[in-house]
Amino acid sequence: MPRIANLYFRTAIIFLILGISIGLHMSISGNHAPTGAHAHANLLGWVTMAIFGVYHALNPKKAVRRLAMIQYGVYTFGVAVLIPSLYLLLSGNTAMEPIVAVSSLIAFAGVLLFAVIIFSSDEAVATAASAAR
Ligand code: HEM
Repeated sequence: MPRIANLYFRTAIIFLILGISIGLHMSISGNHAPTGAHAHANLLGWVTMAIFGVYHALNPKKAVRRLAMIQYGVYTFGVAVLIPSLYLLLSGNTAMEPIVAVSSLIAFAGVLLFAVIIFSSDEAVATAASAAR
């Protein structure tokens, strides 16, 4: 499996552990205010990152491109800042709002970069790699 796919799966499972922990905490405490943080940790973290990992596992030529690592860094940074700041915002800390806004845009930039990866052709990647040799 390409390194970036492994990295995505490792990061995804951390977000699932975090997302389920928030879910269990909400269930036990009866306070469902941070539902949004729970849902986004599970969906932007676990589900989306696992899908990114599967895509890279199925497209090993694209997985070795520098863009793949840049995309991982941008998306993961955005989600990693978004989840705790959203948790705090939904728990009543309104000062978190600008951090939630900026981290959401960073995560979205990561998604746009993934769109670039998806629409780029395998052929062009292979040609560039062989030209560099
Ligand atoms: C043991 C695991 C889990 C527990 C204990 C749990 C618990 C909860 C709780 C207490 C809520 C709030 C419900 C409400 O206030 O209406 C919730 C909402 C939600 N959960 Fe989970 N959850 C778990 C796993 C997951 C997973 C794996 C996902 C997605 C992959 C997920 C996605 C969502 C979503 C999208 C909502 C929002 C639903 C809505 O607002 O209509 N949850 N969860």
